[in-house]
Amino acid sequence: MTTATKTKAKAAPAPKAKAKGHVPMQPMTRGVHHLALNTDDMKKTIDFYVDVLGMPLVHALKVPAGLGTGPLNRGNPPYENLRHYFFDMGNDSLLAFFEIPKGKEPEGNRNAIAAMQHVSFAITEARFEAIREKLEGLGIEYLGPMEVLPGVFSMYFFDPNNIRLELSCQPADGAAPKVVRGCTQNAEAMRKELLTLTDDRVWIEQRVAELGE
Ligand SMILES: [Fe+2]
Repeated sequence: MTTATKTKAKAAPAPKAKAKGHVPMQPMTRGVHHLALNTDDMKKTIDFYVDVLGMPLVHALKVPAGLGTGPLNRGNPPYENLRHYFFDMGNDSLLAFFEIPKGKEPEGNRNAIAAMQHVSFAITEARFEAIREKLEGLGIEYLGPMEVLPGVFSMYFFDPNNIRLELSCQPADGAAPKVVRGCTQNAEAMRKELLTLTDDRVWIEQRVAELGE
């Protein structure tokens, strides 16, 4: 990160706490179990995610017979005998890939409804810089780093499958980035935006109830 961006690397001020007695809503989910994406070249994908992004390959399997085109398909790609590999993306979450037979599916439009626009991986500043050096060494173009939220810096690039990736770091948080904290608004800012969505103020107040003023 440049000196210029470093001087701005300050976490956003914490919204003021809710009134005494407020029981904060807790998410029902704990985070991502696995994010499943598609490739048509598993070997190239392994080399990129292991060697460039530093995600160990932890499981390599073929989807069992009958799950692709048979009645037991549970939403996975409709092909038999597909490779389905898993990488450790950190913090007990997995990144998975199916290997679609070459030429069988078109390249996706990441701006289509129900498509994945991009994925951002949380990372410490030191590793952010290490990956930036690797991208430069390999001649892989990237955009950034740029401050995308107060104290949050991102860079953007594509994997070998043309999947848009982002790395996000929060230098002020050191080795333990607080991702949700880095993105949480105060009630006033959210209220202002939600008013562009609806004029139902009762609904808006329900939605901002977890935020501090
Ligand atoms: Fe993003």
